[in-house]
Amino acid sequence: MTVTTLSAVAARLTDASVRAAVATEPLAWPAALADDAWCMSPELVSLYGTPAWDALDDGGRRRLAFFECVNFFTLNIHGERALMEGIARRLYARDLADHAHYLHHFLAEENQHMTWFGGFCQRYAGKLYPDRKLVLPREHAPGEEDVLFFARALIFELLVDTFNRRMANDDRLHPLVREINRRHHEDESRHLAFGRLLVEDLWRRHAPRWNPATRAAIPAYLAAYLTASWKEYYNPDVYKDAGIADPIRVAREAFAAAAPRARRADLEARCVRVLRELDLWPTETES
Ligand SMILES: [Fe+2]
Ligand SMILES: [Fe+2]
Repeated sequence: MTVTTLSAVAARLTDASVRAAVATEPLAWPAALADDAWCMSPELVSLYGTPAWDALDDGGRRRLAFFECVNFFTLNIHGERALMEGIARRLYARDLADHAHYLHHFLAEENQHMTWFGGFCQRYAGKLYPDRKLVLPREHAPGEEDVLFFARALIFELLVDTFNRRMANDDRLHPLVREINRRHHEDESRHLAFGRLLVEDLWRRHAPRWNPATRAAIPAYLAAYLTASWKEYYNPDVYKDAGIADPIRVAREAFAAAAPRARRADLEARCVRVLRELDLWPTETES
């Protein structure tokens, strides 16, 4: 990927963002959601296929799905907040100066997404769940911090988008939830197109100058980051809010159980494929 190609893509995405902003109507917020509304596709609920799910009646499953939706939207907010901070800090930095105009649109869109996700959580749950993600500060080779930052963003956006696409097409869900997922998917398809090319550009440009150990550690780091991201989808606070006993044990057991493992493998397949294509996923011998 050359910088010129990336710039051409950023220019095209900028035009698309401008058109999308003009076409976006404000969301219609109902005063309350019906108690029996599905807010998350049952098959995407973290406990689906586990004994804890089987023990719930239909009302309990819908209640759990509501809090899972609040957790999913919360994860979006925390991820977008970190993304906005990192992009704002890098605006007009040397590697990104050519794309600054597109990044302004990117930031505006992430900010708008947070009004949707935050609007939902505050209105209907009266809260967000706390952010538990930690990125420990350490020394980096030149360009390494940017590669890791944008690769983490790509993982976050790919995972979220897989949920968004499925839920946008699920007619069991409350129309507002479907619409938020649909709108987010629409905007994120532009972010993903840009993010993938940017990660490729930064990685190809910087990695050859790093020592082999630094380069070799990146795929394992990103694989660990994906696993850590998944753990946040098994939130004991959600289970507690849904009235499930012993929520920490339930979270630990659900994460290790066969059905959720198989579901994660399915949901992360696109993310792993993209990272593999970029040579950013551990090879068999490394994993
Ligand atoms: Fe977003
Ligand atoms: Fe995004």
